Amino acid sequence: MSPETLDAILDRYGRNPAQLIPILQDVQAEENYLPREALELISQKLDIPIVRIYAVATFYKAFSLKPRGKHIIQVCTGTACHVRGGGRILDKMIRDFGVGPGETTKDMEFTLETVNCLGACALGPIVVVDGEYHGQMNPPKWDKIYKTLKKAEG
Ligand code: FES
Repeated sequence: MSPETLDAILDRYGRNPAQLIPILQDVQAEENYLPREALELISQKLDIPIVRIYAVATFYKAFSLKPRGKHIIQVCTGTACHVRGGGRILDKMIRDFGVGPGETTKDMEFTLETVNCLGACALGPIVVVDGEYHGQMNPPKWDKIYKTLKKAEG
């Protein structure tokens, strides 16, 4: 992330240390993760101890300290989604992408993640693609989404 982009984000929040969470959210929206250099700069510029920034960054599951792909694919592994076949979908995704949960494809296109109950159990199994919920997921339905994603990539 360029120092100018980071400055623009900090300015947006009046360089107020109390706005750390929205600042981190904006950094992550730009980069898809929280780069260490950006966290160090925030620490210096807002005079917040780096340990406090890491404490916040690791507390919220929505933040990632590891580089993530352009597309984030999340599979709910909560009990209700699991009994409705979520595990089978996850297996298929692992085969399709060639990476496990928490990992990113080598081309940096896709990151596969598992999440806990998303509160939409009645529609399970739930898959979230770039923030968009897809309910009652099954392997053929996933195939369609996967093909669309791959097409957009190519
Ligand atoms: S268990 Fe998946 S939404 Fe509740």
